[in-house]
Amino acid sequence: MRTPLELADAHPGPAFTVTLDGREIEALPGRTVAAALWAAGVTSWRSTRGERRPRGVFCGIGVCFDCLVTVNDRPNQRACLVPLHPGDVIRTQEGTGHDG
Ligand code: FES
Repeated sequence: MRTPLELADAHPGPAFTVTLDGREIEALPGRTVAAALWAAGVTSWRSTRGERRPRGVFCGIGVCFDCLVTVNDRPNQRACLVPLHPGDVIRTQEGTGHDG
């Protein structure tokens, strides 16, 4: 079975490291936060304000705001749109992300 990289004939640069709540995750250049988290097996990284229900990617195109995450201390970033850079610090988010 061919991988998505092979199917797209993609030749990304070398992988780099970011962290999710202190855990090191490998990312390829050009990947969004969501793509890197999915590749690492993480499918949920936010909980809703009221019932604290798990959320991750829903629309994948920046419309639904289900995938909100904190990136480099900036809360409410849409993981499906934000490209990663080496050393980025990602934190899972509860509610509005302004609770500390
Ligand atoms: S998954 Fe809908 S905005 Fe990111």
